[in-house]
Amino acid sequence: MRRPIIAANWKMHKTHLEAMHFVESLRNRLAPSDYDRVEVVVCPPFTALRTVQTTIDGADLDIGLGAQNMHWEEKGAYTGEISSPMLVKLSVTYVIIGHSERREIFGETDEWVNKKVKAAFEHDLLPIMCVGETLAEREEGGTEAKVERQVRAGLAGVPKDRLPSLVIAYEPIWAIGTGRNAYPDDAQATIAFIRSTVRSVAGDAADEVRIQYGGSVKAGNIAGFMAQPDIDGALVGGASLDPEEFALIVRYDTSSS
Ligand code: 13P
Repeated sequence: MRRPIIAANWKMHKTHLEAMHFVESLRNRLAPSDYDRVEVVVCPPFTALRTVQTTIDGADLDIGLGAQNMHWEEKGAYTGEISSPMLVKLSVTYVIIGHSERREIFGETDEWVNKKVKAAFEHDLLPIMCVGETLAEREEGGTEAKVERQVRAGLAGVPKDRLPSLVIAYEPIWAIGTGRNAYPDDAQATIAFIRSTVRSVAGDAADEVRIQYGGSVKAGNIAGFMAQPDIDGALVGGASLDPEEFALIVRYDTSSS
């Protein structure tokens, strides 16, 4: 059984103090049974990682810590970059790699994504590798070709024994920040296709890889996604900034979908 993973991607939002208040507020809204059912992860900006880590540790919360990006080198003359050993020292467990905003705005290539995925695994960080198509690609029937290329390129040369702990986020770019989420059955179909692509690369590890949906997830639509057999969680942007809304997302109830 794959344990659902629901992750907050705060993008470039929240100072370290705001991040601390969020965690304190979330703590009051979640019960131990919520953490048993779902793996909860927050991915603050780099500047808030330390504060969020000490807040989580201080309250002994079962919340995972994720970063939003990293460089593939361990150290060096890369002004403005952050390496995996730096993240590991802060008790970071997950790292988002290849988010479409990094690919589209900052020019990250499949090759870079692949280097980052490999570097993350080398340092025992778990990648949340993002894939997804643009609206134009979708309209011309190119969704599967795009995500297949991204998955194959991203996982090239990754040691097979590491793959079961991989997380993939399928985030159709047209659904990100638009309020226009994918239909759950469409997301299911693409995510099942992604899983079959992982299977062709990694064999039975594909049954363990968790694949999230991301793109305008809210408390009001999460249950529809979680009711799908291949959707193992969500990567949540805008709706994860509010602790009340994010707690409702974590506490989804598929009997209502
Ligand atoms: P929204 O939930 O704001 O659409 O963002 C999705 C996303 O990009 C998460 O990584």
